[in-house]
Amino acid sequence: MLVSAKEMLTKAKAGHYAVGQFNINNLEWTKAVLQTAEELNSPVILGVSEGAGKYMCGFKTVADMVKAMIESLGITVPVALHLDHGTYEGCYKCIEAGFSSIMFDGSHYPIEENVEKTKELVAVTREKGMSIEAEVGSIGGEEDGVIGMGECADPDECKMIADLGVTMLAAGIGNIHGKYPENWPGLSFETLDAIQQKTGDMPLVLHGGTGIPADMIKKAISLGVSKINVNTECQLAFAEATRKYIEEGKDLAGKGFDPRKLLAPGTEAIKATVREKMELFGSVGKA
Ligand code: 13P
Repeated sequence: MLVSAKEMLTKAKAGHYAVGQFNINNLEWTKAVLQTAEELNSPVILGVSEGAGKYMCGFKTVADMVKAMIESLGITVPVALHLDHGTYEGCYKCIEAGFSSIMFDGSHYPIEENVEKTKELVAVTREKGMSIEAEVGSIGGEEDGVIGMGECADPDECKMIADLGVTMLAAGIGNIHGKYPENWPGLSFETLDAIQQKTGDMPLVLHGGTGIPADMIKKAISLGVSKINVNTECQLAFAEATRKYIEEGKDLAGKGFDPRKLLAPGTEAIKATVREKMELFGSVGKA
């Protein structure tokens, strides 16, 4: 059964670990993430960007697939199905499609408009028992063709949004989606600390989990990060394993071209990445 992310994140914040959000792209991805979470007895959040939702034939297809898969694979750990960087319209589509959680990314609006729209969505999600993530201060890098420069959020604005009753808050602390450039100065722990002091118990979300060194991840968790998003790293792992399979000519041997065989190494690589992240985030055995 799908659940809201509220309980798993409240527990994570109190227990000083983080729950991973792994973005899904297709059936193999979804199966790999769910099976790894079950194997490790870890709560998990499946992230779906608007672009990935469109690719997978719409949010309803995704929600129905995930629900059916949870049932047929016998998944017992808490699973939240979450819209990643949702637009205002996208949020309503996911609420209707049967997601259990949404992110409204109003970070590009003036703060007053971000507050107004977030407040409205908080009321709607509360009525439906869903969780909601809001964002202050844009995350750098590229996501679905939108390039953000990455900025540190204003802790006072974070408090303003947190006070609206959101479940979790994403705040820019110098993090970037995709690979980190060579000259990346690292996360701003000063900003994170100031945000946590203003927002108290609010679970904080770290986007751009790909490529952040383990020591920085641990420090971020110690300063209140309870949800970490990973997308690109699973894509890189999948692509590398698939390339290796083809370069070794395995698709040409016997029935190696069968998609069940061709996509298997990539799927295993996603599982290994998810496992490594869950171990690092400390969510293993916390279901
Ligand atoms: P990465 O692609 O850098 O892992 O970021 C994922 C993310 O933050 C999704 O919102």
